[in-house]
Amino acid sequence: MGKVTTPAPPYPEGWFCIGFSREWKAGSVGTRPFAGGDAVVYRTRRGVLRVIRPYCPHLGAHLGAGGTVDGEYLVCPFHRFAFAPDGTCARTPYGTPPRASLTLLPSREAYGIVWAWHSPDGAPPSGELPSLPGPFHSPRAFRATEEAGTPEEVTERVVGRILSRAGSRHVGRRALGPGAALVVIEPVRRHLRAAPWSLALWVLTTPVSPGRVRRWTAGSAAVAPVARLPRPLSQRARQNSPVLRGGRGTGSPTPSDPGS
Ligand code: FES
Repeated sequence: MGKVTTPAPPYPEGWFCIGFSREWKAGSVGTRPFAGGDAVVYRTRRGVLRVIRPYCPHLGAHLGAGGTVDGEYLVCPFHRFAFAPDGTCARTPYGTPPRASLTLLPSREAYGIVWAWHSPDGAPPSGELPSLPGPFHSPRAFRATEEAGTPEEVTERVVGRILSRAGSRHVGRRALGPGAALVVIEPVRRHLRAAPWSLALWVLTTPVSPGRVRRWTAGSAAVAPVARLPRPLSQRARQNSPVLRGGRGTGSPTPSDPGS
């Protein structure tokens, strides 16, 4: 009998961008395609952000289609069952709430980006997002496309394109997960070369269906004490900046290397 091989899962395990923090104001609800289905993202009035699978545990209504935030609860549009941030049903118009719960997806907000965890077998996060030597301003997406490929392939391809265009101005890159990377580029114009800031380009992909990803390219100014930026940038900025050569940079050199 031939050897039975298990097909590879269609999506890798890891943290994926599912949008940007600024998209979800208090009280807002939105739907995003994620790993073969939908994910509903909402923010409570006090600012708690949750990412959930979309179906109401009562009779299966899609909570992204008419679900509303009432205080700290997400309310189903069909029979008005209300769910607390821990997913449990906290209130119904019909008496004692049932022991039913939403399916929460592990999520994080970091660098102005909303991240959701995917594991092929539903396992909890096996690690956290890397800590960056920021602070970085929240990125603004300037392009979102859907394209063929896995998160790793598309991220690698786009990062390669950015690096080849950046030429000698490329100063560092860091992988943030299977579908996310950060490229830091020094200032473009000659008269800005002394400025202690750089351009941070974020390449972010979300697996949406087998072999397809949604891809964002987003940019932000990385404004930071130079000593806290990735090491290659610190070295170049010190050489280029009379201010920084004069020792007005603060903080201690980061031990991390942005190369990935
Ligand atoms: S389907 Fe959501 S409360 Fe009934």
